[in-house]
Amino acid sequence: MSAFLPAPERYAAHLHYVSNAFDKAMDRAGADTAVVYAGGLHYYFLDDSSYPFRSNPHFLYWLPLPELSDSYVVYRTGQKPTLLYYQPADYWHAVPGDPDPYWADHFDVIPIQSVAAAKASLPDGIRSPILLGELQNDEQALGIERINPSAGLNSLNISRVTKTEYELEHMREANRLGAIAHRAAAAAFHTKTASEYAIHLAYLESIGFVDNDLPYHSIVGLNENAAVLHYQHREREVPAEVRSFLIDAGARSGGYASDITRTYTTSDGLFADLIKAMVRLQQGLCQRVTAGTHYPDLHEVMHRELAKLLVDSGLGRGSAEALLERGITRALLPHGLGHYLGLQVHDVAGHLADEKGTATERPEKDPNLRLTRGLADNEVVTIEPGLYFIDMLLEPIRAGDDSELLDWKMIDTLKPFGGIRIEDNVRVNGQTPENLTRDAFAGLAG
Ligand code: GLY
Ligand code: MN
Ligand code: MN
Repeated sequence: MSAFLPAPERYAAHLHYVSNAFDKAMDRAGADTAVVYAGGLHYYFLDDSSYPFRSNPHFLYWLPLPELSDSYVVYRTGQKPTLLYYQPADYWHAVPGDPDPYWADHFDVIPIQSVAAAKASLPDGIRSPILLGELQNDEQALGIERINPSAGLNSLNISRVTKTEYELEHMREANRLGAIAHRAAAAAFHTKTASEYAIHLAYLESIGFVDNDLPYHSIVGLNENAAVLHYQHREREVPAEVRSFLIDAGARSGGYASDITRTYTTSDGLFADLIKAMVRLQQGLCQRVTAGTHYPDLHEVMHRELAKLLVDSGLGRGSAEALLERGITRALLPHGLGHYLGLQVHDVAGHLADEKGTATERPEKDPNLRLTRGLADNEVVTIEPGLYFIDMLLEPIRAGDDSELLDWKMIDTLKPFGGIRIEDNVRVNGQTPENLTRDAFAGLAG
């Protein structure tokens, strides 16, 4: 597991930004104190085993401690924050170690062994607190009545869209780890003897991760499984014929995610050509991740470019305009161009017009597009066009009036390959986008 830490000055500058973000959010919420709860363990029904722990992202905004549960950050406007650091007396489990000066120097750290101790350790003089986090019982609220006020959360979410240099460094590292692991997964695939399960293990092992270190459940699909957008299994059997491979998998550093997709094939021919064409299309879109670009416009460019690609490859038989208008590109590419990325894979505020909580307008044709704002410097987005052969979406076209708009013989040849997605993580940087993912692959030795 990565223990990467950006330079201490970067972390200090980040905490300055986070403090300002909380000042604004607390002002909006009419609060003098924000108490941010990391979260507790969730237990299986009627059982004493717990689900893997996931921290509150607003807690991780302060601290690079994704595994620390049951702790609280207490922040009062303009003051040094307090960390109520959960260090239980427990000989059944490993307990959190001594505070690391890297982060501890920025907090008044108070070790606690129980939620009652957390309540007793709240600083004096708090008048109007809010609590941010997921509670499983009343006790965890520490007596605070205002829980997750939307006025505060909307404001914080807007602040989180702009990444600090500390955050960007973690995201570059998350991409570096992702690139190493993707390379290992691709090598396993190209042996033609690895199952989805074996490829997944090769991915994890190359960076010393276990599943819960990943930012999301990886998509590891061979052949037709590449057409299942959120394919969740790992087949243990190697297919009789290994044709294609789609892997959508990331890594994390300090709680920050990468979200990377690549598609490969073992054969030459139409599917291999389509992968190359999709890479060109995707790289063209990445170049357009510039300050001032309205993301839904870029989503529309993706569909226009896909329509042209379909015509050029012979898959589409009408004009590019007809393929667009008749919804053919949307049947072949039913998801959005991408989303914000950060502490969460589908990061916050994609539909927030402002910190007051006003919602952005959503494109009528694409209600599922996760990002409907204009882009500004130091935001990180994914760019993830795809092209899939999904029976459920194609059969109504084949049986309907628009049947002549596609070459069904070609589609039938391509169906055993499943589909293609190419996904990079891109930082808005004026008119010169920084592609964190391509840079990471380029930086690998060998
Ligand atoms: N891995 C999920 C996504 O690409 O949005
Ligand atoms: Mn992805
Ligand atoms: Mn994504």
